[in-house]
Amino acid sequence: MNMTTMTDRRAIIEAATAARDFAQARYSGFRVGAALEAEDGAVFTGCNIESATYGLTVCAERVAIWKALSAGALNFRRIAVVADTEQLTPPCGACRQIIWEFCGDVPVVLANLRGDAETLLMSALLPRPFDNRFLNETEAQKG
Ligand code: THU
Repeated sequence: MNMTTMTDRRAIIEAATAARDFAQARYSGFRVGAALEAEDGAVFTGCNIESATYGLTVCAERVAIWKALSAGALNFRRIAVVADTEQLTPPCGACRQIIWEFCGDVPVVLANLRGDAETLLMSALLPRPFDNRFLNETEAQKG
């Protein structure tokens, strides 16, 4: 890996780490930060936000994606996820679906607070995904 790539990866990890400080995680105590890089280089961050009803909790990754989409960003280069775990925390199943649908086969940078990091492709995290290609094959779509 060349220096440019290393530097870039550190920058997106730092953005996700900073966002993690804003986590609303009073029920689980598990704080997560995410950062999503758009094709023009803009970075949208997110943290997990927990609800007293528990089930309405939203993960850091989806907060970052909703922020980006609602600001008009449509194409993305990669996403980073940071948590304070020895074993790097991957996106949950629901977030894998949403990352696939809105970001495609992007690199997913996993990192912790001790400087460990690993980059995986979405297609490795979500093999054989369901997406809109299947909806376009339905009878209703064919008219
Ligand atoms: N969480 C995230 O925000 N992202 C992940 O990748 C894993 C889980 C949050 C959801 C919940 O607030 C807490 O972590 C514990 O599951």
